[in-house]
Amino acid sequence: MVNIRPFASADEEAIVALWEESGLTRPWNDPLKDVQRKTKTQPEMFLVAEADHGAVVGSAVVGYDGHRGWIYYLAVAKSHRATGLGKSLVQRAESMLAALDCPKVQLQVRPENTQVIAFYEGLGYSTYEAINLGKRLEDDEKAMS
Ligand SMILES: CC(C)(COP(=O)(O)OP(=O)(O)OC[C@H]1O[C@@H](n2cnc3c(N)ncnc32)[C@H](O)[C@@H]1OP(=O)(O)O)[C@@H](O)C(=O)NCCC(=O)NCCS
Repeated sequence: MVNIRPFASADEEAIVALWEESGLTRPWNDPLKDVQRKTKTQPEMFLVAEADHGAVVGSAVVGYDGHRGWIYYLAVAKSHRATGLGKSLVQRAESMLAALDCPKVQLQVRPENTQVIAFYEGLGYSTYEAINLGKRLEDDEKAMS
């Protein structure tokens, strides 16, 4: 049995390890800082999947900005993939967002991770054209060095 619950501070190390194992970390995002940032904004929407033996085996960082809902850092430990856990995490994220009257949930897939698109399509997601622009307000790489 796997239980999906909100993040707790004791999960910090395990979450970073899960994101690393899942190939979700990048040099420009300090994962520990990303964990801590989420504990300050809608922390109840930071989902952690915990296995029977207490191990952290999944995550989803969910948020609603008043216009769109977003899912980041969706990850399932290799040991627990293809058991329906990824689907459960997305569905839990969607029900939390729907409860806030969020009209649409969006997510970004890195260009090198296109194989995951079929997973999302199976859950009713479809791609849409948009050009992403971003500007850093805090430089994690500088902060780490
Ligand atoms: C993507 C990921 C979260 C999927 O988790 P999972 O627990 O293995 O997926 P599930 O078992 O819930 O699969 C749900 C459905 O999607 C399908 N599916 C899963 N991965 C798939 C893939 N790569 N391609 C096509 N279908 C896929 C499953 O067959 C299943 O279909 P079914 O409901 O008809 O049986 C997991 O592979 C992962 O952590 N990947 C690395 C991190 C990552 O890329 N995250 C997404 C960032 S955008």
